[in-house]
Amino acid sequence: MSARDDTAEDMAFAAWLEATRQRTEAALERHLPPADTAPQRLHEAMRYAVLGGGKRVRAALVYAAGAACGANTQASAAALDAAAAAVEFIHAYSLVHDDLPCMDDDVLRRGRPTAHVQFDEACALLAGDALQPLAFTCLAQMPIAPALVAQAVRTLADASGSLGMVGGQAIDLASVGHVLTLDELETMHRMKTGALLRASIALGAVVAGASSPLRRTLDTYAQALGLAFQVVDDILDVSADSAALGKTAGKDSADNKPTYVSLLGLERARELAEVLRGEAHGAIGAMGDACRQSEPLAGLADYIVLRGH
Ligand code: IPE
Ligand code: IPE
Ligand code: MG
Ligand code: MG
Ligand code: MG
Repeated sequence: MSARDDTAEDMAFAAWLEATRQRTEAALERHLPPADTAPQRLHEAMRYAVLGGGKRVRAALVYAAGAACGANTQASAAALDAAAAAVEFIHAYSLVHDDLPCMDDDVLRRGRPTAHVQFDEACALLAGDALQPLAFTCLAQMPIAPALVAQAVRTLADASGSLGMVGGQAIDLASVGHVLTLDELETMHRMKTGALLRASIALGAVVAGASSPLRRTLDTYAQALGLAFQVVDDILDVSADSAALGKTAGKDSADNKPTYVSLLGLERARELAEVLRGEAHGAIGAMGDACRQSEPLAGLADYIVLRGH
């Protein structure tokens, strides 16, 4: 599959992505505690970690899945906003903790000092801690059927916990200096990064009350994209510079982390990302007419993978 041409379709997707990003920023602002509410320093740190940067890919996946499943009422729009804020809160917390000295020990994030550098370690730790329950407060507020709220809570909790993101982070730290097999690396990536991207898609489908077959096919898309995302993150760590990334480039090899690039080399890692992009597009095709709007899903698959080229 070759890179998409600069067509009207690409421009429409770029406009959708920008509008979605603005919608996400507004939802995040609405759901965050104001900076002048006590304890102020904690709330400032939470706002610092969440606002002012980030591609908002996970939020975009929530909205794209919602649109694909035909979520179009006012209540579902409010619920999608809450779900988008929730996944971005979990993601922001995971980055704050990932950057701590006891984990990746990074000083640059989204082009700015990391939260523990800007504030202090204890404050960053607590800001991350507080963002996590805030995500579930958002989900609990969704104006949809209680059974769907419960499904959403379960989905995000499972994706974030020891069998999802946090478990993947534990494997990541335990793997420093080790050569993993391809299967082990895939498991780590699916957990630490794929799980939350997969949950983002599932949340959009839950809000829309999508049918089981549609949810299953969307999950095939989500699994391919979730793995592709971390493969591309590994690629960019060696192929892009810190200014472009907004975080320290070359950090994985400096820290002796097993990555797709360290295991496969750059070219084969890129080939794998392309294969996964193809799988994601295949899943969109398999949804057929059940998919009410496929362009955002297709555009996001290309956006995520082509960043690594
Ligand atoms: C970075 O995620 C951390 C990973 C899980 C690879 P993003 O690349 O989505 O970070 P932001 O939100 O755009 O800063
Ligand atoms: C982070 O993976 C995954 C998370 C759950 C935060 P990385 O450690 O590769 O993320 P970056 O490169 O620091 O953004
Ligand atoms: Mg890490
Ligand atoms: Mg890191
Ligand atoms: Mg990385």
